[in-house]
Amino acid sequence: MLEIINIYKSFGSHTILEDINLQISRGEVFGFLGPNGSGKTTTIRIILGLIRPDKGTVHINGYNIKEHFYKAITCVGAVVETPYFYNQLTGYQNISLVANLHPDVSKKSVHEVLEIVGLSKHSKSKVATYSLGMKQRLGIARALINDPKLIFLDEPMNGLDPQGMFEIRELIVNLARNNKKSFFITSHLLHEIEQVCDKIAVIQAGKVIEQGSVADLLGKTTEKIGIFTDSAEKAYQLIKNLDYVLDVKIIKNRLIAEINKGYSGKLNKILVNNEIEIDYIIPRKHSLEDYYLELTSGGNKDDRAN
Ligand SMILES: Nc1ncnc2c1ncn2[C@@H]1O[C@H](COP(=O)(O)OP(=O)(O)O)[C@@H](O)[C@H]1O
Ligand SMILES: [Mg+2]
Repeated sequence: MLEIINIYKSFGSHTILEDINLQISRGEVFGFLGPNGSGKTTTIRIILGLIRPDKGTVHINGYNIKEHFYKAITCVGAVVETPYFYNQLTGYQNISLVANLHPDVSKKSVHEVLEIVGLSKHSKSKVATYSLGMKQRLGIARALINDPKLIFLDEPMNGLDPQGMFEIRELIVNLARNNKKSFFITSHLLHEIEQVCDKIAVIQAGKVIEQGSVADLLGKTTEKIGIFTDSAEKAYQLIKNLDYVLDVKIIKNRLIAEINKGYSGKLNKILVNNEIEIDYIIPRKHSLEDYYLELTSGGNKDDRAN
């Protein structure tokens, strides 16, 4: 669906993107993650042909955007940064205006896209009365109007409350699953999109430093546990050399251990047999956020552990 190869971009003497390579398949939800200023929006602008790369190639649906720009871009819908609307017009009127620009898009499609994003009930209300989440969904409706195969959403959760984020996530997952739409979603906050993406790439200072499936990046073979005990030092000495304990640290009255999956029972038994009183053992969600913070900050993630 999308292939970008070897993209470079500088503004003046600043290198903004360096050797970016990404791929998205049909129906796949791709998350492009990175801190503010790392080059996410610039990448989207290049893919959409809004700015030109210094080097590299973009293929959308098999079409090179340099050679077949029109064919490539008709497969695409996008919400880049905050979507703007005519506040004094209704949701329906705003989408109709865009539909009018597409000769082959019918009035029926306007109703359909409003239905898809859950705004049918509010289609006759002025956009001025919409919440931020509703405006974000109206933006997605507008991006859907020409039935694109690939949809770019640049920071779609920005500023939304948990309910608003939930609705956007549901919408993305449904469109990917039921309508085979592919998504390219950016975010600087991982937990916002962790649950919806099949694949992610992490960008930092213009370079992709990691990419792969969410499952692969999280590692399926190990788990993390917190062991709460007043005898942390003694427990540490007991377990640090066990072959299924890959890493263990003491933080105040607890140990944080990375172990092979399924070994927490065995570990518990050893501690109990050695008369270590354990308050509790808690699995720590081995979240992509930990992973991401580790990648992008280089800091000790356990310093901020719960
Ligand atoms: N038109 C431009 N001219 C000069 N610098 C730019 C321009 N657009 C973006 N930048 C710079 O490129 C870097 C990446 O920006 P951007 O792609 O917007 O990051 P992100 O979307 O990840 O927050 C930033 O340092 C930004 O200041
Ligand atoms: Mg941006």
